[in-house]
Amino acid sequence: MEIYLVGGAVRDQLLDYPVYDKDWVVVGSSPDEMISLGYKPVGNDFPVFIHPETGEEYALARTERKSGKGYTGFQYHASPDVTLEEDLSRRDLTINAMAQSSNGHIVDPFDGQKDLEARILRHVSSAFSEDPLRVLRVARFAARYAHLGFSVAPETLALMQQIAATDELAHLTRERIWAETERAIGEQSPLTFFRLLNQADATQTLFPELLPLGKLNEAKQLETHFTPDTTTTVRFAALVYLCFATIDNPAEQLTHFCQGLRCPNGFRDLSLQVLHSTDKLLNWAHTSADERLNVYLKSDLLRRPERLSPLLEACSLLAQTFKNKTLDTQFYVNLQTELKTIQPADIIQAGFKGAAIGEEIKRRQLALCTT
Ligand code: CTP
Repeated sequence: MEIYLVGGAVRDQLLDYPVYDKDWVVVGSSPDEMISLGYKPVGNDFPVFIHPETGEEYALARTERKSGKGYTGFQYHASPDVTLEEDLSRRDLTINAMAQSSNGHIVDPFDGQKDLEARILRHVSSAFSEDPLRVLRVARFAARYAHLGFSVAPETLALMQQIAATDELAHLTRERIWAETERAIGEQSPLTFFRLLNQADATQTLFPELLPLGKLNEAKQLETHFTPDTTTTVRFAALVYLCFATIDNPAEQLTHFCQGLRCPNGFRDLSLQVLHSTDKLLNWAHTSADERLNVYLKSDLLRRPERLSPLLEACSLLAQTFKNKTLDTQFYVNLQTELKTIQPADIIQAGFKGAAIGEEIKRRQLALCTT
C-alpha cells in the first residue's frame, strides 16, 4: 500500500499557509488490512480510518457516485484497484486535488499548482456538481484567500450558477449550511463569501431571510478591522448590524434571520445586544442617562458581566467603521463595576423600604450614568 498526504494540507503547504489538519489517502489497501494495522474505522460503510496515535484521517482511495439529493446521497467504491488519480479526480477544486508522496513528490494531475500560482479556484470536473455543498465551499475558500488575490474561474462560477438553478441547494440541511457559513465568517474576508454566493444566485435559497447586503461599503470597511482574534460571534454580530440596523422592526427581523440560519443562540443574543447598544455607545455624549443605563440593563450586563466584553468588541469594530476611532472600552467596564457596587442590602440598611428600595437603586444607577 502507498500513503499520500492530500487535500488542504498539500494546498496550504504550497501556499505557505498554516496547516491545521492533515488528511491522508491510502492506495492499494483494504478495510481488513487497515484494521489489522491498528487503524480505527470511522463508520461501518465509509472507507475512512483514524490513525491510532496521531488521530489523523486515512481514507482508502475511492470513487464516488451520486445516488440521491443533497449532501448525503453518495455511493462509494473503495477497493485496492482504485488509483490515486481516480481518487483525486472526484475532488472539488484543482488546488484541493493534489497529493504528496512520502518522499515529497507532488502528484498533480489537474494542474492544481498552476492554479495556485495563478490564484484561481477552479473545479476539477463536472463531478463537482454531485455535491452541492461545494458551492459554499468555493465561496468559503474565496473568503479565506481573497487577500492573496484568488478569484473563482468563470467556468466554475457558471457551474455554481447552474447548481443554484436546480433544487439541489434546497436539499442541504440548515446545519451544513450554518457550518460552512460559520467557518466563512471566521475567514479573512467573510463578505467575499456572501458576495460570491450572491453572484452564483444562491443566496435566495441559502439565506432567504437575509436582507440585501445594502451596506457593502461599510461591510468591506468593517472586515478590514477583523483580526485573527476576533471571534466568529463578534464578527457575525457586527456584520448583521450593518444589514438590520436601519430597517423596520430590526430586532424581530434579526431574530427571524437567526432562526432561519439555525445559528447557536449566542450568535443571536450578541447580535441583538449590538443592535440595541451600538447607537448609544457610539454617541454616548448625546445619550440620556436613562438610555445609558438601559444599555446595561437590557443586555443584563450587571447579572451577566461576561457579556460586556464581546459587546464592546463588536461595537468598537463598528465605531472604527463608522467613526474611524475605537471605543474607550475601559470606560464602560469601569461604569459596569461601579453599577455593580449598588447593592439592595446596603439600601435596606440605609433605611429604605418596599417600593422605595427599587426607586433608590434606580436613582443611584442613573446618578452614575449621568457623569
Ligand atoms: N473534498 C471535496 N469535496 C467536499 C469536501 C472535501 O472534494 N465536499 C475533498 C477536497 O479534496 C478537500 C479534501 O476533501 O481538500 C479535504 O476536505 P476538508 O478537510 O473538508 O477541507 P480542506 O480542503 O482540508 O480545507 P480546510 O482547510 O478548510 O479544512
